[in-house]
Amino acid sequence: MSSPLKIAVFISGTGSNLGSIIRNQSKYNYQVVLVVSNKESAKGLDFAREPNIPFYTFQWNKEDKELWHLQEQISLQQCELIVLAGFMKILPEPFTKAYKNKIINIHPSLLPKYPGLHTHQRALDNGDEFHGATVHYVNEELDAGQRISQTIIETKGCNDADSLATRLLVREHSLFPYTIGLIAANRVTWQNDELYLDGEKLTEPVIFNE
Ligand code: GRF
Repeated sequence: MSSPLKIAVFISGTGSNLGSIIRNQSKYNYQVVLVVSNKESAKGLDFAREPNIPFYTFQWNKEDKELWHLQEQISLQQCELIVLAGFMKILPEPFTKAYKNKIINIHPSLLPKYPGLHTHQRALDNGDEFHGATVHYVNEELDAGQRISQTIIETKGCNDADSLATRLLVREHSLFPYTIGLIAANRVTWQNDELYLDGEKLTEPVIFNE
């Protein structure tokens, strides 16, 4: 087996996805080598502390200097992929350009439905029968990069946004490690700005309902 894919995970809060990503490292042959948070108080940093994963926190005020320090940390740890897991800041264009096709994000909706915030409430307000989460590549447009994978749940029985979010989060915890694993195994690849899965052009996201 090839050496594990080195990844950096960016968080802002609870970090339950980070916890799940760390738990599944050996199953999917990747390794979290850096955790980044824009909040020093982020609870999710505890997931990095216990296994001694280096972490880096910064106050985001859009200064070039900070961006440069962040990029320095990423190259010091030789990160090959950046994973946004509940990272609540929009990355500036110089950063997304510097890591083109190397940043992925998990978004709690079936994109292209409901980019942005309050996705659970919007799904309920629209009376959607199904809801879900999407893992996608990050580009300069909010929640609009190439989709890789999705998990789909029923909304039935969830009467408020919190219960729907809780139901979905369990699935996110499987979807995200699985998707990172697809990249780690070189099953998902970019060729001439188009995404491929197992050598076939990926026109629709992979559905993973485990
Ligand atoms: C998840 O629902 C994710 O889809 C969204 O923010 C939430 C983060 O949860 N982007 P956690 O911090 O991983 O617990």
